Amino acid sequence: MKILVTGGAGYIASHTNVLLLEKGYEVVALDNLCNSCEESIKRVEELTGKKIKFYKGDCRDKTLLRKIFSENKIDAVIHFAGLKAVGESCKKPLLYYDNNLNSNMALASVMSEFDCKKLVFSSSATVYGTPKSLPLTEKCLLGVTEEYPLGVTNPYGATKLMGEQMFRDFYAADKEWNIMLLRYFNPVGAHESGRIGEDPKGIPNNLMPYVSQVAVGKLDCLSVFGDDYPTPDGTGVRDYIHVVDLAEAHIKAVEHIDGCGVAVYNIGTGTGYSVLDMVKAFEKACGHKIPYKICPRRSGDVPACYANCDKAAKELGFTAVRNLDDMCRDLWKWQSLNPNGYNN
Ligand code: NAD
Ligand code: UFG
Repeated sequence: MKILVTGGAGYIASHTNVLLLEKGYEVVALDNLCNSCEESIKRVEELTGKKIKFYKGDCRDKTLLRKIFSENKIDAVIHFAGLKAVGESCKKPLLYYDNNLNSNMALASVMSEFDCKKLVFSSSATVYGTPKSLPLTEKCLLGVTEEYPLGVTNPYGATKLMGEQMFRDFYAADKEWNIMLLRYFNPVGAHESGRIGEDPKGIPNNLMPYVSQVAVGKLDCLSVFGDDYPTPDGTGVRDYIHVVDLAEAHIKAVEHIDGCGVAVYNIGTGTGYSVLDMVKAFEKACGHKIPYKICPRRSGDVPACYANCDKAAKELGFTAVRNLDDMCRDLWKWQSLNPNGYNN
């Protein structure tokens, strides 16, 4: 079976590609490398001893998509390509709507032309906006307000929510589609080899890449955004999932895609950890203290967010198996072996 992986050089895609290749799938990857580099593709090939057919280009480019589908008999697509920085999306909403929504449309249109109608889409827990109750089940949408009539609190989240809606509408108009919408919670960690991992450009926005860069000495001190939330220690609580578990969820999604119609799944662990829980766990993994200071809350953050994962367990047979120590150990291995990411 041949899978087109858009955003195929990125963080989650590279871990998914390893599993796809190990399980005997053929991988065709498309990426414009706006947030990644080709070295990740090379390292996946090196880890698996298998080849990826790589196309450098933009997912909005229908001519290129047609070339890819003409040159390869694609059976299904895993669509990771997208911009994902919440803060940047507030400053450059047009960039986000253009990139993320036009990618969906170009891809779906060319898939239709070539009669390839199996799609796994990277959605996000961000579609839940501010949770009204926890844990979040797939039905927990939406906390609509006048300011946020879609329920999501930033343009990035809006592109994910609209993306889901687009794909639902495509299915409603053509029941031959089979579409899995996967709502990821907070992916962290790296492949256990330490050869592939997350390589954020510039100063990381997300907690664990920031913590690991403090640990390796690239950054001085972690800013903990708020210690006055209504959580056990006052810091924000999230559902962190090992990226290899998340990659496994994609394999399960592909295995269950036939006849799924449109199906939506939370992909998390079901357990919430606070910022300080994460710092402590990482200190254990790296063997030294992580300097941190308490700072004001970051605007747009929710106090707590974690998943009810029963639906994915029941219908896809997917349950995350890696724990917090595994996440921190593997992230530390990646960070300490590759202090400058893929640019070593
Ligand atoms: P990533 O930035 O590492 O991967 C995305 C890849 O898509 C990058 O390699 C980038 O170069 C590529 N890309 C972006 N726009 C493109 C375009 N128009 N054409 C071709 N390639 C393009 O991010 P990731 O963490 O691996 O995320 C993958 C997907 O999962 C994204 O859609 C993201 O929104 C979603 N997601 C991520 C998280 C997270 O916390 N990492 C959480 C929920 C959902
Ligand atoms: N945090 C800090 N200091 C930092 C970075 C983060 O204290 O330097 C805190 C945040 O306030 C939050 C927690 O760590 O309480 C997690 O923050 P992240 O930025 O790592 O993750 P978010 O939950 O804010 O958002 C991430 C992705 C979104 C995605 C969401 C749900 O960035 O794109 O997970 O999947 F939508």
